[in-house]
Amino acid sequence: MKIKSLFTCSKCGFESPKWVGKCPGCDEWNSFTEAEIQEPSVRAHKSVGHKSIKPKTPVSLISTSNVEKRLVLKMNEVNRVLGGGLIEGSLSLLTGEPGIGKSTLTLQLCNDLLSLNKSVLYVSGEESQNQIASRAQRLKINSENLSFLSETSLETIIATLNEFKPNIVIIDSIQVLNSADLTGLSGSIGQIRYATEQFMEFAKTTNTPIILIGHVTKEGDLAGPRVLEHLVDTVLFLEGDRYQNFRILRSQKNRFGSTNEIGIFEMNENGMVEVANPSAHFLEGRKENPIGSAITVTMEGTRPILVETQGLTNITPFGYPKRTATGYDINRLQLLISVLQKYARFNLSNQDVFVNVVGGMRLNDPACDLGVLVAIASSYMQKVVPSDTVFIGEIGLSGEIRNVSQLSKRVKEAEKLGFKTIVVPHTKEKITTTSGKNLIKTKDIFEVVKAL
Ligand code: TYD
Ligand code: MG
Repeated sequence: MKIKSLFTCSKCGFESPKWVGKCPGCDEWNSFTEAEIQEPSVRAHKSVGHKSIKPKTPVSLISTSNVEKRLVLKMNEVNRVLGGGLIEGSLSLLTGEPGIGKSTLTLQLCNDLLSLNKSVLYVSGEESQNQIASRAQRLKINSENLSFLSETSLETIIATLNEFKPNIVIIDSIQVLNSADLTGLSGSIGQIRYATEQFMEFAKTTNTPIILIGHVTKEGDLAGPRVLEHLVDTVLFLEGDRYQNFRILRSQKNRFGSTNEIGIFEMNENGMVEVANPSAHFLEGRKENPIGSAITVTMEGTRPILVETQGLTNITPFGYPKRTATGYDINRLQLLISVLQKYARFNLSNQDVFVNVVGGMRLNDPACDLGVLVAIASSYMQKVVPSDTVFIGEIGLSGEIRNVSQLSKRVKEAEKLGFKTIVVPHTKEKITTTSGKNLIKTKDIFEVVKAL
């Protein structure tokens, strides 16, 4: 045996035979640490001594009777994000910032699973059994089928799983586990990857769904290893402002469904409560005929959601004007400002511009551009935006308002919530509204600004 050393990036797992200052994989500085690997001195030819297996063809002949069996949960918002329920034998990773509600949500999921008559093992390396038990009491979860284990040794956990064979396993969290087979500290790439592989094997061989909890760093990366994302079947991300009640569950990767759907929750004293009508929720507490505020419709997967966008412009006290966006892309904001300067003749070069999306929602849908633009224009012109109006449209570089996807779905949602006027892009598409609702088709931002 020859001992060779290898350097790995502690953030993304990039491997290099020599030390480098800046990781070529993730651009992180000073993240390489040395690890020793043992290599057999003579490499045998890889295929020698292995038997071949005849591949099965075509795909339709492969039996699918026991794949994709889903456990449908009571929490519809979670089912939606998972693509219809928890798949048996799947390995899921639930991530989010510390304190966002991962443990709370999984404990509530346990409750759902228990009502399906499944036994659940909740392994916590972070909190003591008393802490989890008191949280379970607070969430009114009380069942003989729910067992707790306070443990961080990977070998002990795997041995326990093999002996007691629970139907569902929760690991809270993957970063605190430690295997005696490896020398690295718990939380290091090697440890996390090794533990995940062990759980993957257990999940696949016993057809047991496993949910791993993992923390992310401030920048939104999985603390240390992005490598985990490739290993697991599903990556769920729980986000929200810790000082607001909204929590949004997204899937970043899903081998069994779409990654567009989101689940919306509110954190209150009884844990996470599903928000059935998010539009009404996001519009709560809105002012009558406001200045610097406009309503728009974002599509989250197959769901249209109405949100309030706010804009504020103010003379720059000195120096360089500030542009700040919360919940909206800063580059798109720069674009809207340029378009307003050029095509609406606004002088924003000596104005600070702030944009905020109410309720902690993050807008990635270009159809929300028009709403943001109207909010900024309203603040700059000090003109009121009628509070029964919704703005839908993508802004192009020459100030034109472009058509958006799923327009009729958006219009329907706005109607449902009682909005009287709906401003939409000029399109040949036939959009119908029930009588009394006013649909205004616009071609460019000049028309909209003039109307204000
Ligand atoms: P927790 O699930 O422990 O977060 P994570 O596992 O992601 O670190 O949730 C932490 C916060 O949630 C904590 O500040 C208290 C709050 N909380 C509630 O508001 N209501 C509840 O019913 C529970 C159990 C927690
Ligand atoms: Mg926790």
